[in-house]
Amino acid sequence: MEKKWWHKKCAYQIYPKSFLDTNGDGIGDLKGIINKLDYLKGLGVDFIWLSPVYPSPMKDNGYDISDYYGIDPAFGTMEEMDRLIAEAKKRDMGIIMDLVVNHSSDQHKWFREAVKNPEGKYGKYYYIMDGKDQNPPNNWRSYFGGSVWEKLPGYENKFYLHLFAKEQPDLNWENEELREEIYKMVNWWLEKGLAGFRIDAIINIKKDLTWQSFEADGPDGLCGIQNMLKNAKGVGVFLRELRDRCFRPHDAFTVGEVFDITEDQLEEFAGDNGYFSSMFAFGHCMTGHEGSYWHEYRPVDFKEWRARIFQDQVRTAGLVYESNIIENHDEPRGASNFIPEEDYGFPSVSALAAISILQHGLPFLYQGQEIGMTNCRFESIEEYDDISTKDCYQAAILAGLTKEEALESCYRYSRDNARTPMQWNSSKNAGFTAGTPWLKVNPNYRSINVAAQEKEYGSILNYYKRLLAFRKSEEYGDLFAYGSFQSAYEDTENILAFFREDDTKKILVLCNYSSKESSVVLKEEYNNIIFVNYPKVTQIGNTQKLLPYQLIVAEYEK
Ligand code: GLC
Ligand code: CA
Repeated sequence: MEKKWWHKKCAYQIYPKSFLDTNGDGIGDLKGIINKLDYLKGLGVDFIWLSPVYPSPMKDNGYDISDYYGIDPAFGTMEEMDRLIAEAKKRDMGIIMDLVVNHSSDQHKWFREAVKNPEGKYGKYYYIMDGKDQNPPNNWRSYFGGSVWEKLPGYENKFYLHLFAKEQPDLNWENEELREEIYKMVNWWLEKGLAGFRIDAIINIKKDLTWQSFEADGPDGLCGIQNMLKNAKGVGVFLRELRDRCFRPHDAFTVGEVFDITEDQLEEFAGDNGYFSSMFAFGHCMTGHEGSYWHEYRPVDFKEWRARIFQDQVRTAGLVYESNIIENHDEPRGASNFIPEEDYGFPSVSALAAISILQHGLPFLYQGQEIGMTNCRFESIEEYDDISTKDCYQAAILAGLTKEEALESCYRYSRDNARTPMQWNSSKNAGFTAGTPWLKVNPNYRSINVAAQEKEYGSILNYYKRLLAFRKSEEYGDLFAYGSFQSAYEDTENILAFFREDDTKKILVLCNYSSKESSVVLKEEYNNIIFVNYPKVTQIGNTQKLLPYQLIVAEYEK
């Protein structure tokens, strides 16, 4: 694998709406992000990915963009955006924006023009089709529930395509004029000095142009989008063009939100000559995801989770530099998803952190992860904001679950778990806002917050700082970036372990990922311990004793 300028960095995702509000309107803003740049620098962050801050009617919290060249007034101004980019640069940090170009908002001027004149220039920017006797052209189900087709306002038998919400009409990438608009916009941002983009839902830009219906897979008579994605060939033509026209000339860092590709496509997507610099390693996040709705999911099973992590590391070895996450704005909190609730605490959260960050790939943190923020209980479905939570709740009720059971599945998987305001301190609203927060603050902010953890040497926050410094250190930085990955001790119960090795160094990351004490009979004697999450490490003969969630990093003679 070719060495790239961004390989030894660490990234952090900000969900701007929930990060820090500086004007008391209850919504996080760009000024709030600027205020916290030193905090992020101190944590060890090099790249900051901002979830969308473009003007948006916020039907999907900014993933419905009505103007690609602006900043939503709720977040601030373009001057503030420029200042953020400049202030980040001063600190040797890069800003990455979200590139949401599978769809626009239905309030984008292109779509409004399309509604006025579906046969005209802008009608061709979208997918507008005639229905079958006023029924939708086919039976595809949108990601947020219901048909992907919505009647074009004012027409009896014309429908437009939306794979996500009906307020997110899909852009027609087959149309060269539309593609040119997008490239112009991407270059405009890159010329402003962005370090790159996180690329949203990108696999969806190629449609199955036969528009065939598929066998229904639910009582609604519809079928999941995955069917059409399997039949949509040729997304690479668009992605290559996007790369060559925009990303390459700027040497931008790009990370794709890529689902639904096969193993043999990994290199094509994110290899040395891939469409993107990197892509998220989502495999392990899918542990327990059975069926299409949350109430069908199973809690994370350790063995399955570990197998998925290893599988991903092995299949990308030497080919792809993935981006590793345990959570994001669409996922539950990692500390709630990958740790049984009764085990939550410093040992478990710190173990999970090291497992993620010491793997091969680019470490990506999500806001609040560094203090161990958790899922949040909402009292009723009305308290939730997220569009997909409403859909999954409804599906659970339709499947015969009680309200309590349906809410329980939202507590486990709702996207709002990660979107509750950042917990800065123990004052009102966790120091997030002086006004009324747009979404409930997790009541555990009184004990889980940045200010408290900054004061405590042994806090999760300070541990994360040491962990990122270790990962990026002069001494071990190359090993973690480029060293090989080899799973270890898979047959010992509850153990998650792997070797990282290069020409000059060899280390073992060894963790007892359980609440019970454990021990491992070491096959090979290590030289010394270089990183820990417990003060004391006990070895008797060649048996390594491990306390609950104890993690050690041991170095071997080489
Ligand atoms: C991506 C985003 C998600 C959004 C969707 C539609 O999956 O991460 O938040 O709802 O795309 O843009
Ligand atoms: Ca604000």
